[in-house]
Amino acid sequence: MNPSIYKSLIRPILFRLDAEQAHLFVHGLASRCRPLLSIAGKGYDGDDLHCDLFGHNLSNPVGLAAGFDKNGDLVEVLRDIGFGFAEIGSVTALAKEGNPKPRLFRLQKDAAIINRMGLNGEGADRIAEKLERSKFSIPIGVNIAKTNDPAISGDAAVKDMVYTFSKVSNLPLAYVTINASCPNTQEGIVTEAAHMRTVFTEVQKLNTRQLPIMVKLSPDSSQSLLEEMVEAASACGLSGFVCGNTSTSRENLTTDSATLQALGNGGLSGAPLKSKALRICQIVYPLKKPAQIIIGCGGVSSGMDVYDFLTAGASFVQLYTALVYEGPGLPLLICQQLSQILRQNGQTLQQAVGSKLQSTASN
Ligand SMILES: Cc1cc2nc3c(=O)[nH]c(=O)nc-3n(C[C@H](O)[C@H](O)[C@H](O)COP(=O)(O)O)c2cc1C
Repeated sequence: MNPSIYKSLIRPILFRLDAEQAHLFVHGLASRCRPLLSIAGKGYDGDDLHCDLFGHNLSNPVGLAAGFDKNGDLVEVLRDIGFGFAEIGSVTALAKEGNPKPRLFRLQKDAAIINRMGLNGEGADRIAEKLERSKFSIPIGVNIAKTNDPAISGDAAVKDMVYTFSKVSNLPLAYVTINASCPNTQEGIVTEAAHMRTVFTEVQKLNTRQLPIMVKLSPDSSQSLLEEMVEAASACGLSGFVCGNTSTSRENLTTDSATLQALGNGGLSGAPLKSKALRICQIVYPLKKPAQIIIGCGGVSSGMDVYDFLTAGASFVQLYTALVYEGPGLPLLICQQLSQILRQNGQTLQQAVGSKLQSTASN
């Protein structure tokens, strides 16, 4: 479905609903009415965007970000919307309801969302069972996070994440992402690389299948924390970085401050996040090992956005918020735009990766 049809006919109806209700409605429809989805969305069929994600052949580098399909209900249908891959989760060891509602808000003027869902989900046992029975339509990564309960801390926090890894590690996944950057728990984002190094080490001890492990970083991290995280990830043999999660900042917004204050805490996503997400890609790219990859994430809504992330060092991108604003035709449109941009610049997808940073360095 062309995004302009979605925006003029369907979005006005969905946006009359509370944001979480609208999400649940669309999610339910997608999981139950597959034929509808194949009418609404369509995959990109050119071969210029084919790429390899840890040995998995993707039709395009545009993925669905974590948070949209927290419990892995859509893995059989996501190909129909045109995504090249998807990240399920965050999955936590224990099932949790998350923070009190309302906890999901649209900032329409800014094409943004504020959420403080608080890692709600069905828990690792149930989700792993479900994924085991599912036929993945595209390569799937699983994002794992610590159960949102401040009483689980120290060694117990490490064990909690390792438990979740143990539940998903035998599934036919493309990768697992360790979420170190959820701002919506009482503890907030991880601020100590030493703690993450322990999690990485313990997860790797169990990782006998050598599943690629990524870490998801926060756009609110300082340069020094990012440097320490990259160092810890590299020392523990991690395969890359998701750059990144939502932000607690309220920069780059036109929504007035009284409205923002009334909405309260939460992670900001969508268009205003893009510059912050690009910043972490640019910091991580020269620090990482050549074989490690970056998945750029934050404010992607067009082919030009993807190109900006590629040139800043990402090999793949993910999106969530733009799907809410632009609808299920967006992945196809983004791929068509990206293909045209690459053609105009005389570059392949792979040549674009990091090209802005390399040319800045050689100037
Ligand atoms: C409602 C909502 C829930 C999210 N839940 C998660 C989550 O459980 N785990 C996670 O790693 N990221 C989560 N995210 C963050 C997204 O994966 C992504 O990093 C962020 O939204 C930036 O991308 P975007 O601007 O394309 O939305 C969530 C985002 C939103 C909007």
